[in-house]
Amino acid sequence: MTQTRQGTLACVGLGITLGSHLTPLARSHIASADVVFAGVSDGVVEAWVRRMHHDVRSLQGFYAEGKPRGETYREMADAMLAEVRLGQKVCGVFYGHPGVFAQAPHDAIARARAEGFTAIMEPGVSSEDCLYADLGLDPGRVGCMHLGATQFMLFRRTIDTSAWLVLWQVGLAGDLGEGRFDTDPERLAILTDVLRRDYPADHGVIVYQAPTLPFEAARMEHILLSALPGAAIGMADTLVVPPCRRLAPDPAIRARLAALGMPSPT
Ligand SMILES: C[S@@+](CC[C@H](N)C(=O)[O-])C[C@H]1O[C@@H](n2cnc3c(N)ncnc32)[C@H](O)[C@@H]1O
Repeated sequence: MTQTRQGTLACVGLGITLGSHLTPLARSHIASADVVFAGVSDGVVEAWVRRMHHDVRSLQGFYAEGKPRGETYREMADAMLAEVRLGQKVCGVFYGHPGVFAQAPHDAIARARAEGFTAIMEPGVSSEDCLYADLGLDPGRVGCMHLGATQFMLFRRTIDTSAWLVLWQVGLAGDLGEGRFDTDPERLAILTDVLRRDYPADHGVIVYQAPTLPFEAARMEHILLSALPGAAIGMADTLVVPPCRRLAPDPAIRARLAALGMPSPT
């Protein structure tokens, strides 16, 4: 029989827009924790989390210029696990959804479970959710592929240009693990060249940023793909590439389905 040890870990999402996206369940995990670790995007958001708990420890200090990102995420997980091993009820609070383009929560939960602790993830409103709402994009219409911008550059991927393509962490595009916090026109030019394998230079793309604070508006900047190298792209931007061709019907599969006919009544 597997023994469950005393400490627990709950990684919860805060959502993107301060104050409006936090679920009651996530709030109750924060309130009932012994210690809270915060991996959030903004000092104002971190201050808001501090109003919900007396012992909030920032994870932001683990980031450093030139430090490999994998090391940062491992140290974040180490910090949370150290308290779990002491028998504490630990809550990791992460902006957006804690499991979307976020390595530390996944790693911490997997490691805690492997050591016999109860560990759960509580979903939150992701920037992906905001994107669908702000851009009026339904991923069910023609499909939508999500990739990290740098992974898209470093590996040969097959892109379906009849679906939407969403490139995350475009503000770090071309980072080879050196721990950069930005990209630059040279790296964005290489990303543009990779996109040009599948899309024309005059294809319209959207630089998107959901509001973090309630009085802000979403950034939805429509630019031509050819203008991407010169665009001002920040850490919280996501690049949205609309389809450039219509869905191609598959006559052979349609014929096979039609040949099945209507099911006979029983
Ligand atoms: C480390 S990931 C974290 C994503 C987060 N867990 C979520 O659920 O949205 C950071 C990337 O998420 C996207 N992102 C974060 N905040 C955003 C925002 N306010 N609007 C649009 N995209 C955002 C960007 O692509 C950014 O580079």
